[in-house]
Amino acid sequence: MRIIGTGSAHPKRTVTNDDLAQLMDTSDAWIRERTGICSRQVITDEHLEDLATEAAQRALDDAQIEGKELDYIICSNVINEYVTPSMASIVEGKIGASCPCVDLNAACTGFIYAIDFAEALLQTDRANNILVMAAEEPTRMVNWNDRSTCVLFGDGAGAMVVTKGNGLRAIKVSSKSNLGVLHYKRKLEPTPFITKEEEHKPLYMAGQEVFKTAVTSSLHDLLAVLSEAGLTKDDITYYILHQANFRINDFIRHRFDVDASKFPVNMDRYGNSSSASVAMLLDELNRMGRLKKGDLLAFSAFGAGFTSGACIIEWNK
Ligand code: COA
Repeated sequence: MRIIGTGSAHPKRTVTNDDLAQLMDTSDAWIRERTGICSRQVITDEHLEDLATEAAQRALDDAQIEGKELDYIICSNVINEYVTPSMASIVEGKIGASCPCVDLNAACTGFIYAIDFAEALLQTDRANNILVMAAEEPTRMVNWNDRSTCVLFGDGAGAMVVTKGNGLRAIKVSSKSNLGVLHYKRKLEPTPFITKEEEHKPLYMAGQEVFKTAVTSSLHDLLAVLSEAGLTKDDITYYILHQANFRINDFIRHRFDVDASKFPVNMDRYGNSSSASVAMLLDELNRMGRLKKGDLLAFSAFGAGFTSGACIIEWNK
């Protein structure tokens, strides 16, 4: 694949750590020190599909193509107001596309999984232009009385248009089933036949366990894709990592012993926006003019499942 356009969109409401301290027993100092997050953008009256559409349209504009030229839309999403149809199908209608559409849920790793699917479609001549996107509203999954999770998240959408090319140097995705550390359960519609007990349970996260697993899997995945691509850690221009916790990313950076400028950050302003975080950060770098032809970008993400994934893409826009 070759990336030919990127886009992103954020809800308008900024919620600072001090705003949260008005609502619960927390402080700006605690959140900043433990996570690196200062504020996040949170959905109020927006619908996630509108943010997803905005991100998609921006990616199309950046790629200088129209929705009708798309051959496939893949959207990574964990939750939104519609269980069905898919977010990809909803966006399809709003951007004038007419093509196969599918959502995938690999939690916060979803964007990397979507890249893997898109590459397979391009390699097998099933598509030429693919919209790969991620739209997430994790603030709707957390318990707002649980200060250990609700302060971590923010909402948003990111997208990119990819076409055929030799940009993807290596990719690795994995999953190791572990319900215990991170999950969200919802109650389904009752039926006359249900006899089992069901529960609604807002996002549960065993923070420290997830932290350790995240560091280990991200490091492991990045080393694997570097090795597969025949590259060294210093060949990478930017490490675009899932924006969950500054300490996770900084730990990896120290292990790699590379300059902080190679590990761009936007979690300070957006918090953890689940699978949208890598897509949003990529768009930010593109729009800031920080990406140059030939730059090597290493993506890495991890999340519930427990899933993880990494890839290396050459920027050839
Ligand atoms: N404000 C103030 N205090 C808080 C708090 C908050 N928002 N949240 C938790 N605390 C308290 C705890 O109650 C605990 O108090 P105690 O010692 O009196 O019991 C103390 O802070 C330490 O809690 P702990 O959970 O040990 O903190 P931590 O250093 O592990 O940081 C996380 C918590 C969630 C920030 C951290 O574990 C983390 O980032 N984990 C990974 C999360 C992640 O990457 N998720 C993404 C998956 S996609």
